[in-house]
Amino acid sequence: MEKKLITIAIDGFSSSGKSTMAKVLAKNIGYAYIDTGAMYRAVTLYCLNNNLIDGDTVDTQALEKAMPTIAITFSVDPTTGASLTMLNGVNVEQEIRDMRVSGKVSIVAAIPFVRRALVEQQQKMGQSKGIVMDGRDIGTVVFPNAEMKVYVDASAETRAQRRFDELKAKGDTSTTYEEVLENVKYRDHLDQTREESPLRKADDAITLDNSTMTRDEQNQWLLDLYNSIVAQQ
Ligand code: DC
Repeated sequence: MEKKLITIAIDGFSSSGKSTMAKVLAKNIGYAYIDTGAMYRAVTLYCLNNNLIDGDTVDTQALEKAMPTIAITFSVDPTTGASLTMLNGVNVEQEIRDMRVSGKVSIVAAIPFVRRALVEQQQKMGQSKGIVMDGRDIGTVVFPNAEMKVYVDASAETRAQRRFDELKAKGDTSTTYEEVLENVKYRDHLDQTREESPLRKADDAITLDNSTMTRDEQNQWLLDLYNSIVAQQ
């Protein structure tokens, strides 16, 4: 029997490992994967490249005018099969992950018209179901009716260590663990206290605290949950 397609929403703090987990699940079950954080990061990169951010202030007037011209799409790297974030046709996958963007993205993600535009695009991407989407507000705002909702939690220290290891592996030797921890805590605070769609667990989401789990254990946990939910459909 054909398995029924469902919508899978995975929300949680930054560097909780949710993207890695979501990607593996999508690959295992043949679903599309959308990293919504990458979309907020791409808008932030656009702002930085066009001098629309001064300190913690965004030129919202200019950004609102530019929003309809900012096209964010995803393509697949033909050799590695990895998902690539494209900003107006240019591959920005590497650039959107650096500390320059990480330091400003929470400010851009708090702007109501930015969220409205991106949420609308995300809802279009998921209208045929068969999608795994990760972010902060997927189970609460983007797809409140998603059949499967997961809220990923882990301590700030665990997440900062993971992020620090990732940066080191990419050759960044100038950023310290303390700086990363500070950035993680700062983003947690902004993500949870912003007025527009703050990060919060949907009432019907299942929490996964992966602080002490290996990647394989997390992937298996997610796959088991998916199988049990699909079996009930
Ligand atoms: O998951 P990430 O760290 O790449 O997300 C980058 C930023 O974007 C983070 O500060 C939270 C924000 N974000 C959001 O507000 N809503 C989403 N659906 C996804 C990310």
